[in-house]
Amino acid sequence: MRILALYNIKGGVGKTAGSVNLAWLAASHGYRTLLWDLDPQAAASFYFRIQPKVAGGGEELVVGKTNISDIVKSTSFKNLDLLPADFSYRNLDLMLAADSKPAMQLMRLLRPLSSLYDLLILDCPPSISLVSENIFRAADALLVPVIPTTLSVRTYEQLLEFLANNQLTDLAPTFPYFSMVDLRKRLHKRTTEKLPQMYPEMLSTQIPNASDIERMGVMRAPVGVYAPNGAGGVAFNNLWQEIREKLAL
Ligand SMILES: Nc1ncnc2c1ncn2[C@@H]1O[C@H](COP(=O)(O)OP(=O)(O)OP(=O)(O)O)[C@@H](O)[C@H]1O
Ligand SMILES: [Mg+2]
Repeated sequence: MRILALYNIKGGVGKTAGSVNLAWLAASHGYRTLLWDLDPQAAASFYFRIQPKVAGGGEELVVGKTNISDIVKSTSFKNLDLLPADFSYRNLDLMLAADSKPAMQLMRLLRPLSSLYDLLILDCPPSISLVSENIFRAADALLVPVIPTTLSVRTYEQLLEFLANNQLTDLAPTFPYFSMVDLRKRLHKRTTEKLPQMYPEMLSTQIPNASDIERMGVMRAPVGVYAPNGAGGVAFNNLWQEIREKLAL
């Protein structure tokens, strides 16, 4: 099982849109896929019409009382399961901190899933915390949506600094990609031209700012279900192909 985390310290950059669409695309290409909604806001669970509730909450999960495969829900799509969020995940940091090896705990929890799925996608909450450190250790790659503005670029630099300061750079390679791109804006145009020169790990697919993607909240489905040939659907398909090739999935 390969593990991809959609991660950014910054909120509202397209992590959930990326997780939901990439998970759906992977599943529709035959990968047995599990999407874990780690955000107490439960947006990914909402998109798949799954109740954000975990019996026993985060606490029983973290201490090992809940078997993780018992809380998996199937979606209405073939090959695609979801681990729903729970409101108690807002305290996941405290729950993890109570453990003797808090930074390794997520990996331990995930072990029983490894033979059941080809791909695990983590939809992460926007913060940098003990939960994120667990994610960095468990994930094979961090996919980082970056809006081409100065502040968003700055948070990518902060992530790289954090990884370097904690000896995590090799453990969690980062693959940033541009999200919510509007090339009519000068700043977006300039940033999308300049940044890949500074960061060669940047993926070449750009996700445009597209009303089709925004409509996911109304349709409650991945964009490829209702608008596969629109700008958003095509871009996510390209992103999936690029990731699949780059990571040899
Ligand atoms: N490419 C896009 N074009 C237009 N709207 C988008 C795009 N991607 C995401 N959105 C919209 O922007 C908002 C934030 O996106 P999303 O929830 O994916 O971000 P996030 O990084 O997961 O946010 P959070 O940090 O709150 O979890 C949502 O309303 C979503 O519908
Ligand atoms: Mg989100």
